[in-house]
Amino acid sequence: MRAFGFLALLPAVLGNPLNARTTACNNSPDLCSKSYGEITHLGAHDSAFVRDSNSGVSLAGDQYYDTPTQLDAGVRLVSAQVHKSNSEWRLCHSKCDLMDAGTLSDWLKDVKKWLDDNPNDVVTILLVNSDGASASDLDAQFKKADIVDYAYKPTSNSAPKSWPTLQSMIDDKKRLVVFVASLGSNTDAPYLLDEFSFVWENPYDVTSPTKFSCDPQRPKEVSGQASTALASNRLPLMNHFLYSTDLSMFDVEFPNASYVATTNAASGGTGNLGSTATKCKKEWGGRQPTFILVDFFNRGPAIETVDNLNNVSNPIGRKSLSTSDTPQSSSGSTTGNVFKDLLDLANSAKGGASPSMGNWIWVGGNWGSLFGGGVSF
Ligand SMILES: *[C@@H]1O[C@H](CO)[C@@H](O)[C@H](O)[C@H]1NC(C)=O
Ligand SMILES: *[C@@H]1O[C@H](CO)[C@@H](O)[C@H](O)[C@H]1NC(C)=O
Repeated sequence: MRAFGFLALLPAVLGNPLNARTTACNNSPDLCSKSYGEITHLGAHDSAFVRDSNSGVSLAGDQYYDTPTQLDAGVRLVSAQVHKSNSEWRLCHSKCDLMDAGTLSDWLKDVKKWLDDNPNDVVTILLVNSDGASASDLDAQFKKADIVDYAYKPTSNSAPKSWPTLQSMIDDKKRLVVFVASLGSNTDAPYLLDEFSFVWENPYDVTSPTKFSCDPQRPKEVSGQASTALASNRLPLMNHFLYSTDLSMFDVEFPNASYVATTNAASGGTGNLGSTATKCKKEWGGRQPTFILVDFFNRGPAIETVDNLNNVSNPIGRKSLSTSDTPQSSSGSTTGNVFKDLLDLANSAKGGASPSMGNWIWVGGNWGSLFGGGVSF
């Protein structure tokens, strides 16, 4: 009876499309045999900084969905800034007063859980080390999240000529790559990789859709020289997000969300992701970007360009999200409200309040000019 029941179930199990997931790597069976460095991974810029109801629809948010949802939807590189606040390592956007997304270890626990639940996926973490955490500081947080066992350790501290295939990383259960910008000695935690020893990036501070560039910018050694960058074996990371300059007179930059459907589109419109990626690939002698980093990744949707670069036409096991609507309609995202909030903030500071800077805006620069009395409203 029992055997019969089992056999009777078998065709149903085999017929279940979800079952195919066990043979897909990063959402596609075709990617299993590809090397980690050869495919394109979609990256969520500032993954931890979410513009949703939990953050009061903060303008400092660069994504509409939280990190586990990003991963469910196909993002494979997640990123955040690490700051030291009240002697804790926390994920804050520019300043902890502006946007505090909690402790690094709590965020890592979310990623760990996602890796546990998705045994056939390879994920990359990119941390901006804003307050100079040492490898052992960071290692303590990774240990707290119990995620260290997943971390992949290359054989040396410089960029390898080739990376393992996704399948071999999955088989070895070393499915997490961690880059930190920047990191001193990593002897205490060799899985923490100094980003710019392994990766190069094009410019990120772009405020006009006509200004996206494929030229290497960081690290300095390869700046402006694609052939040197490529020959160094570092992996190309293509930044592709747009800042608004509406508040540039305050040295304030925040993500341009109103144009993001075009910025992240696979085709059509100035500065779209698809055409830019094609242009970069051409300028890089046919090398596709290993990582593409975007704001509001569900818009576009950005994953379409990544699938095109990876020749993936039937992604498996991916959560689909709205590509048009934002999860929260945001009263804070209009320019009018930005100015209103900024005025309120500046006025309360002028009134002598020690400003809790609010958590509503992305600040790219110098609050001093705002509070120093040079600006009158
Ligand atoms: C966003 O970018 C578009 C295209 O350059 C521009 O027309 C628009 O004014 C920008 N919006 C903001 C809020 O900066
Ligand atoms: C996708 O196909 C193009 C053209 O054949 C090839 O150059 C590229 O390496 C492929 N990319 C992947 C990740 O398979």
